[in-house]
Amino acid sequence: MSIQSVVKRIVKPVVGERGWQALRRIKQRTAGRRPAPPAPKKPTGVAAISDDLCKLATHFKTDKWGTHKYAQHYQRYLQHLKDEEFNLLEIGIGGYNRAGQGGASLRMWKHFFPRAQIFGMDIQDKSFVDEDRITTFVGDQSDPESLLAIQEKIGRLDVIIDDGSHRSPHVVTTFHTLFPLLTDGGIYAVEDTQSSYWPEWMGSEDLDSPDTSMGLLKRLTDGLNYEEFVDDDYEPTYFDRNIRSVHFFHNLVIIEKGVNAEGSNKRQALKARYNTSPASTA
Ligand SMILES: C[S@@+](CC[C@H](N)C(=O)[O-])C[C@H]1O[C@@H](n2cnc3c(N)ncnc32)[C@H](O)[C@@H]1O
Repeated sequence: MSIQSVVKRIVKPVVGERGWQALRRIKQRTAGRRPAPPAPKKPTGVAAISDDLCKLATHFKTDKWGTHKYAQHYQRYLQHLKDEEFNLLEIGIGGYNRAGQGGASLRMWKHFFPRAQIFGMDIQDKSFVDEDRITTFVGDQSDPESLLAIQEKIGRLDVIIDDGSHRSPHVVTTFHTLFPLLTDGGIYAVEDTQSSYWPEWMGSEDLDSPDTSMGLLKRLTDGLNYEEFVDDDYEPTYFDRNIRSVHFFHNLVIIEKGVNAEGSNKRQALKARYNTSPASTA
């Protein structure tokens, strides 16, 4: 006698005909069903916060969130690179000349961008920060040759963050040297622009000073509109032609590189100035 017949002889008298049929239907419905797959494991530790740059900044103890409020803006302007393979260079690794200190932001970037190569440059040797996907270089951002030598070793630059000396002449030199080498569509950020207003930090109290970092960055906004200038002899600069947007925040500026050539309607709008009527061109 089979097991099924034994079960039937014992169970059926107890549950009755209807109950027995109901049990058969349940058996048919569940027959051949695969056991439910185990629920995916919830990430723990740093992996659990790897989509949230503010939490990562706090975890790794960089002042990009807390003292400053930069992480929220980076989250917005770098989100599109989250799962991309690309190169990020940050100038200023942290810790100054204190032994064994620094690297907080490089670790934050590494965990936010799981496929990116993270490079850091500092005037101090920070090689103790080196690990898988993090490479550091010693270099002085006030020296174009030093910047170019490091760029040569890295190759393609997709994101550049200037969090180094925060001295206006250094910020300006670094921007002039590295921005032309940034890839099309790349992002360039300048942190701690407050120092631009501090003479003690090689800045100036003069808001219109052309020599400060904010002086340079503010001029870029006019460059966005160079096609509207009425001076026909105006020669657009490299920055005019290759900056698509400039975003100003408290102490942080984020610049998007890209071809800036949308054209202008100034010849239609300023007919008298440009003498574009058929009679005047005869
Ligand atoms: C504010 S800390 C960087 C903090 C780090 N980016 C973070 O968010 O965790 C500034 C770093 O810039 C470095 N620095 C200062 N002058 C520099 C220069 N001329 N060139 C390159 N690095 C410089 C300092 O040694 C210091 O470690």
